[in-house]
Amino acid sequence: MNKADPKPKLLTRRSVIAGIGAGATWALAPQPVLADTRARFGVAVHLEPFRNEPVFRELLIRHASLIAPMNALKWASLRHTKGEFDFGGADEIVNFAEQNGKRIHGHTLLWYGYNPVWVEQLSGERRVERELINHIETVVDRYKGRIETWDVVNEVVAHDPLDKGPWRKGIWHDYLGPRHVDIAFKTAAQVDPSARLFINDYDLEDDSPRTKARQEAILRIVQRLQDKNIPIHGVGLQAHLYAERRTGRENLVRFVERLKALGLEVAVTELDVIDWKLSADRERRDRGVADTANEFLEAITSAGTLRNITSWGLSDKYSWINETFPRKDSARARPLPFDENWQAKPLFDVIRKYTA
Ligand code: XIL
Repeated sequence: MNKADPKPKLLTRRSVIAGIGAGATWALAPQPVLADTRARFGVAVHLEPFRNEPVFRELLIRHASLIAPMNALKWASLRHTKGEFDFGGADEIVNFAEQNGKRIHGHTLLWYGYNPVWVEQLSGERRVERELINHIETVVDRYKGRIETWDVVNEVVAHDPLDKGPWRKGIWHDYLGPRHVDIAFKTAAQVDPSARLFINDYDLEDDSPRTKARQEAILRIVQRLQDKNIPIHGVGLQAHLYAERRTGRENLVRFVERLKALGLEVAVTELDVIDWKLSADRERRDRGVADTANEFLEAITSAGTLRNITSWGLSDKYSWINETFPRKDSARARPLPFDENWQAKPLFDVIRKYTA
């Protein structure tokens, strides 16, 4: 657990009603009431602005209740060489989060991307398995009881399972097959039985055949783990949303309901809005970005409680969307809740509507 809980103990709607029912007078005092359905607001933290922009740290302290290191816990950040672990960057962020009473989300223990070259050059099933287990044991153990939720596996579903799938190709899958997911969850659960373990993936929110196939693949992985009695507690929807795509409301609601029926939690883990197809006008663009997020968050929260809503960065000054989804007019992308001068945008108001 974190050293300090950032939130005062607020009354939930249920406890207020219970209080009234019991004839308690405290329930009538003007207390802040938190709907049971409010998620925590999380922010993914990139080391560069974290180190160099005091305003970023101030805004994190003021607004975030959860912090997720954006890259600092990935293999390429922790494992420059085979023999060593470099926890420098991750520790900076984790210590800051603890000092400021924030929850911590770990991203990620297994991904096909962002691996150091020596990992990509591993060979042999046994050697690959040994490296994977050793890594997860060491990392989860270091932050045992401190990192509350883990993206144990990231993007293990093929981009288009209807074409080549259902599994994503990559070092872990190539040597271990579907077992790579079992190994990752089992190892994480053994080292920190109190951690909440998530599978995390993208493109799960519209109702195209490809998205439906991706949702089915996630459901099958969850069932596979449950059948083997391997703990899994939740599914993270990255939610790198495209402003030109509509949320498939009915399909998304059904997907979340099916996850809940399997006993899983749901979180939004990497929210930002790709604005490459929106008009140049900044005000209209910011509105379009906010509306896209609102449509998605409205749908997903109507299907049940979200654990967290985490924004993939805070300011447009630092976002992967700018390079990965560049605009034709080469204007800077505006995917995040604060602009490049750290001023709040309409997207921030939308996020606040759904977070505690
Ligand atoms: C991205 C980071 O934002 C970049 O800074 C980094 O260079 C590459 O990774 N899905 C994920 C995230 O799960 O880890 C990715 O983050 C974005 C896509």
